[in-house]
Amino acid sequence: MKTTGSSAAVMAVSLLAALPAGALAAAINKNFELTKDMLEISVFGGQTIKAPQVANAGFYSMGRGPRALAKAYAKFGVEISPELLLILEEILEALGLGTAGGNGNGNGGSGRGSGTGAGGGKNNQSASASQGMVAAVPQMFDSEYLAQVSIGTPPQTLNLDFDTGSSDLWVFSSETPKTQQTGQTLYNIASSSTAKKLAGATWSITYGDGSGSSGDVYTDTVSIGGVSVTSQAVESATQVSSSFANDTASSGLLGLAMNTINQVQPTPQKTFFSNAMPNLAMPLFTANLKKSQAGNYNFGFIDPTEFEGSISFVDANVTQGFWQFEATGFAVGNSTTTAITSMPHQAIADTGTTLLLLPEQIVEAYYAQVPSAQNSAEFGGFVFDCDEALPSLTLAIGSYKAVVPGSLINFAPADGLSVSTASTCFGGVQAAASLPFAIYGDIFLKSQFVVFHGGNTQLGFASKPV
Ligand SMILES: *[C@@H]1O[C@H](CO)[C@@H](O)[C@H](O)[C@H]1NC(C)=O
Ligand SMILES: *[C@@H]1O[C@H](CO)[C@@H](O)[C@H](O)[C@H]1NC(C)=O
Ligand SMILES: *[C@@H]1O[C@H](CO)[C@@H](O)[C@H](O)[C@H]1NC(C)=O
Ligand SMILES: *[C@@H]1O[C@H](CO)[C@@H](O)[C@H](O)[C@H]1NC(C)=O
Repeated sequence: MKTTGSSAAVMAVSLLAALPAGALAAAINKNFELTKDMLEISVFGGQTIKAPQVANAGFYSMGRGPRALAKAYAKFGVEISPELLLILEEILEALGLGTAGGNGNGNGGSGRGSGTGAGGGKNNQSASASQGMVAAVPQMFDSEYLAQVSIGTPPQTLNLDFDTGSSDLWVFSSETPKTQQTGQTLYNIASSSTAKKLAGATWSITYGDGSGSSGDVYTDTVSIGGVSVTSQAVESATQVSSSFANDTASSGLLGLAMNTINQVQPTPQKTFFSNAMPNLAMPLFTANLKKSQAGNYNFGFIDPTEFEGSISFVDANVTQGFWQFEATGFAVGNSTTTAITSMPHQAIADTGTTLLLLPEQIVEAYYAQVPSAQNSAEFGGFVFDCDEALPSLTLAIGSYKAVVPGSLINFAPADGLSVSTASTCFGGVQAAASLPFAIYGDIFLKSQFVVFHGGNTQLGFASKPV
């Protein structure tokens, strides 16, 4: 883990010492704006971390759009349309993972088997339309944003996907069957002198169709950039589904949502952030994702060089376990020239979801301004001509207006392997379908500097150069 403690940009930032203790909590109310004048560089003994992201080299080139959409639907248990399943099946066939070829690792079978029991929203039509696909859909794991985490003594460094939409820290380990590995860096349990088995504890992450990963649990020392948690629950995978297996670059997930949705049984465990929070200089972390390049997560401080203007805070409603907030409206284009249409909706800030999934009315209104756009059954979502210049999309959160530039909304080529050969592109903005809330995923987060304030249970948004 690269520690950049001496750089000015990495120094801890705290509120002006003039503010009495607790003033931050009192001051940061709904829609409170935190300006740079109110921040001063100081280090007061608390810990801070800057975790650079690395690009995921294992990110597949093909069918990213449909798979990203399917992954988001599957993560939150939404049924996937037969059209979308068909597209995914074709993609998987082309990748040698299809039902016909069969990759022989048995995951299709296990996904299907548990799918009938735990399938929740899955209907029989989708399952029978493409059984291999039912298992494969949630396995397609397009994590673009990985960050280094040290586990054990001596430290073993793993690249994990930081996911603000889930709450488990799970890893490929020495217990993961070799047939389900493709070169991931493993957490070698026997090599860590501080690893302790958490007796009787098991975990299982299931998706909407019942497939997923599972295993047992250890506690060990986990550190990110020098901030250590000595007894962090590390969930060791004794079974992973095939696309996790195929994502060579990612050794697992580091969940950053609420403890209440942790999947360890019988006793849910705390997230790394929850454990680290009392020792952080400020009880928060920030996400600064970037398009096609490494961004970073910071823990314990707000780096004023990472945003422009002020930070607008809104209350987060964490009763469902997510970083949920109320978004209030939208405008197609940059709202400095367009009026906001009121459309209050619940949303979550989720770094683990690739796309920006919005209420249908917003999606329709947006693509109505894109002449070549169509909601394509063939591609499973809104597509448009790749060379079309897309308008920006402004999303209102209280009095704050987040502008997502059109360049971020052109997500991926839909009909070719690369942007240069594709003529049809898949939109980064898609409908939230029957999800219980909108998902402000990476397409949105790449346009913003976002503060996840655990101390005040608030989210802060600020603009940044894109
Ligand atoms: C992983 O995906 C690649 C295509 O990118 C494919 O050739 C390979 O067979 C897959 N491996 C496994 C273990 O599924
Ligand atoms: C799915 O099929 C099974 C077996 O044919 C049947 O028992 C079950 O009721 C069906 N479920 C739904 C939701 O139709
Ligand atoms: C928070 O969300 C829950 C579940 O969606 C809802 O029942 C509750 O009313 C919300 N609370 C507030 C203060 O909005
Ligand atoms: C929106 O418009 C304002 C004012 O012209 C400008 O400063 C800002 O950069 C624009 N934002 C985007 C994302 O284009």
